[in-house]
Amino acid sequence: MRKIIILFGPPGIGKGTVGTSLNKDIKMPLVSVGNLLREGVKNQSVIGKKAENYMTKGELVPDDLVLELLKERIMQQDASTGFVLDGFPRNHQQVVMLEKIFKDGDICFVLNLEGSDKIIIERLSNRRICEKCGAIYHLINIPPKKSGICDICEGKLIQRVDDTPQVIKKRLDVFKNDTKPILDFYKKKGCLYSVFAEGKLSETLEQIYKIIN
Ligand code: AP5
Repeated sequence: MRKIIILFGPPGIGKGTVGTSLNKDIKMPLVSVGNLLREGVKNQSVIGKKAENYMTKGELVPDDLVLELLKERIMQQDASTGFVLDGFPRNHQQVVMLEKIFKDGDICFVLNLEGSDKIIIERLSNRRICEKCGAIYHLINIPPKKSGICDICEGKLIQRVDDTPQVIKKRLDVFKNDTKPILDFYKKKGCLYSVFAEGKLSETLEQIYKIIN
């Protein structure tokens, strides 16, 4: 039996930040498709090279590429009792793919992190990530101890290439048109939970622990 927690929500609402906290607090592996893809782009892997252009434009990377990455990651030993999934599924086809990955007895929670476009744009404009380890910061709410330097590995903090106003708009459109509609499936399946995600990280986590424990 595996416990699978799906972090669902628009770009910038805090899925990666919540996922990192869950990984630290309850030791569940965080499987972030966005991070796997960014790693691939950085290393110029075969998948990374194919994905780069889509990511820079804020479009979804083709399903088969993403599925290959996902399968490889969740087959690793640390994910055998469960994992936190960030960034998958993002369209109907990916829902179908994920259903095939589920095994009898798996318990699934889909946590829908909700917040307004205003808060999303504020969070994304102030986001910085470590170019070395990918740690996520917010210039005002979750700042690094030393300006521009990662607390964890002392890497340089940079802005993501897809955090420009034009690409943020595209990512929000993709979320509304392709991703949000899949919520209906999970609602019918009975595993969908709403999480108000505009508050402090601790407040968001408090709601989540009540749901998953
Ligand atoms: P991905 O990396 O998954 O990006 P996203 O879904 O757009 O989400 P973000 O990473 O932008 O935001 P987040 O919700 O994780 O917020 P964060 O925690 O950073 O995907 C990138 C691209 O990869 C896609 O556009 C696509 O091209 C491709 N891709 C990925 N998955 C795919 C798939 N399945 N299929 C096809 N293509 C795929 O937080 C944002 C900011 O807010 C940070 O600064 C953070 O410090 C701050 N913050 C977070 N929580 C709080 C809080 N509670 N209070 C205050 N500030 C907070």
